[in-house]
Amino acid sequence: MDHAPARTDDKPLLQTLAGEPTSRLPVWLMRQAGRYLPEYRAVRAKAKDFIDFCFRPDLAAEATLQPLRRFDLDAAIVFSDILVVPLALGQRVWFEEGHGPRLEAIQEPEDLAKLSSDDLEPRLAAVYQTLEAVAAELPAGKSLIGFAGAPWTLASYMIEGQTSRDFARLKRFAYGRPEAFEQLLALLVEAVARHLVAQVKAGAEVVQIFDSWAGVLPEPELKAWSLTPMAEIAGRLRRACPGVPVIAFPRGAGLTYAAFAESGSFTALGLDTTLPLGWAAERLQPKAVVQGNLDPVKLLVGGAALARGVDQILAALGPERLIFNLGHGVLPETPPEHVAELVARVRETGS
Ligand code: CP3
Repeated sequence: MDHAPARTDDKPLLQTLAGEPTSRLPVWLMRQAGRYLPEYRAVRAKAKDFIDFCFRPDLAAEATLQPLRRFDLDAAIVFSDILVVPLALGQRVWFEEGHGPRLEAIQEPEDLAKLSSDDLEPRLAAVYQTLEAVAAELPAGKSLIGFAGAPWTLASYMIEGQTSRDFARLKRFAYGRPEAFEQLLALLVEAVARHLVAQVKAGAEVVQIFDSWAGVLPEPELKAWSLTPMAEIAGRLRRACPGVPVIAFPRGAGLTYAAFAESGSFTALGLDTTLPLGWAAERLQPKAVVQGNLDPVKLLVGGAALARGVDQILAALGPERLIFNLGHGVLPETPPEHVAELVARVRETGS
């Protein structure tokens, strides 16, 4: 099936990304599906484990749509995980309760020979079936977002084998074995680009690339290992699916966010919690739509802290060229009512 660019009609998220006037300011939240919702916990209990959940299109489509049933959000983000890509490349990935992701870590350059993208799309078919199921049920005016992890963040899990505090193993590999590391990044660029193309063909109208650990790199490597691979993925995606908007989320990139904006590779930039609003308005917004960046803890706390946080972002960055979001994902302890409060506040103040 040929890909036709999504129509932006009456979809505030797509209109904002296309630079068109919108009827209202779009809002969605990273990790809007998750453990803070009792109905999510109920669906998750039906799956054998978290990976099984990600590969059950019926359950994953339900989890994707749950936040839209409760809240007036402008987009659904497909329920999946960034670690399905290493899994599809042949690495062992599992989740331990209370610990998070675990992978059979890459230790030596020779371990890379075990990875292959040959069967990527068939192995990830369940993700594309989830998107097709959600696209068929998506309420009018709502957009469907696909996503993937960026090569640097995927490499961090693949080499560390888990979430890390100092990324010493990853950095030792990257600085000490540069040829092998470049080979891994090249494999991930190819795999992530193909995974995003397949998601768009299955119904994703927008994609977001998560570089959650961009912020641990010095500036030259941040450009080489975060910005460059993400820009290459965006380029490949655009060639395969012209017109599809790409949101880059290089969390912690600091002043180097300016280089992401100046690259011209991304339709929008996801701002992390710490990025100064005035600087973003001046340096980033003229070149890219911006998305963010409420502290997820203000959402957790609710009340005055939440209202003030929302108002500060709207005053500095709204109402045009802004997609309201958090600066990182919804925390599991967040009371669901606070999400309703957030959306109401954005609707009252932001449009
Ligand atoms: O609602 C959405 O945003 C869509 C679903 C989504 C998940 N993971 C589901 C999930 C998305 C977009 C992700 C991305 C993801 N996964 C990232 C990038 C964004 C970020 O948070 O920085 C990363 C680094 C991962 C890897 C990952 N997956 C970790 C570190 C963990 C454990 C942390 C935790 O909260 O337990 C996961 C598990 C995970 N992915 C959960 C969810 C809802 C929780 C699993 C559960 O239900 O027990």
